[in-house]
Amino acid sequence: GRDSFVPGWLDRVQLLETVVSTQEEAKKLAESGAPQGTTVRAEEQTGGRGRMGRKWHSPRGKGIWMSVVLRPELPLSLTPQLTLLAGVAVCLAIREVTGVQAGIKWPNDLLAGGRKICGILLESSLREGRLHYAIAGIGIAANLTEEDYPPDLQGIGTSLLIEGGGIPVDRSALTAAVLTELEYLYLVYREQGFAPIRELWESMSVTLGRQVGFNTPQGRCEGTAVGLDDNGGLLLKDGTGSVISVLSGEIEMI
Ligand code: BTN
Repeated sequence: GRDSFVPGWLDRVQLLETVVSTQEEAKKLAESGAPQGTTVRAEEQTGGRGRMGRKWHSPRGKGIWMSVVLRPELPLSLTPQLTLLAGVAVCLAIREVTGVQAGIKWPNDLLAGGRKICGILLESSLREGRLHYAIAGIGIAANLTEEDYPPDLQGIGTSLLIEGGGIPVDRSALTAAVLTELEYLYLVYREQGFAPIRELWESMSVTLGRQVGFNTPQGRCEGTAVGLDDNGGLLLKDGTGSVISVLSGEIEMI
């Protein structure tokens, strides 16, 4: 159990100054055989990447911009479960270290006070049609002030500093907590499967029970978020009572 768990990934963290993106640095290490848990963190990213081709604002010294090498033995169809696992790990660590009551918006954006506080980008690399390794990219807005956000993100992004009443976050301590939670949950996942992760995710979700909408190439869907399916997709119940599963993309809470 948790008490007898001895973390090992903490010794595998490299802190760099300025990089384009820690995703690329972690990928290079993974390609040259770095073990699971190898982590690159940077003070600043000049080309930080978000989901769906977006940029990720990563100003110097203000956040936790990190990427973790994972080597799961998983069918590709189950990688969304890893994404959810990472969200749970970061949410637990944030609550533990800062007391900020972050919640998870499906699939794995962390919100506090209704605004985004952390984003996660899980990228998989394949070899011969199978999962070779995955890189979990984690961006936590730790000590950004409102002024640190560019105009288009003001009111959308917040930070632990803002939500924690102006108390700056010890970024090394939070990094260590994130890695420890991630390593522990990963072990639980390998030993017990997705069920315990799903339970944690559901308890921290701000999406379940809410009315949500999303756009598909076929048109717009709306419904109530009622749970997760076995792969980590979001189950929506529409007005007629039929339930559909959303596998990826972005939802809007309405
Ligand atoms: C999102 O919400 O769109 C995901 C954002 C992920 C940002 C992190 S910061 C560390 C890592 N390096 C990147 O370039 N992106 C991820």
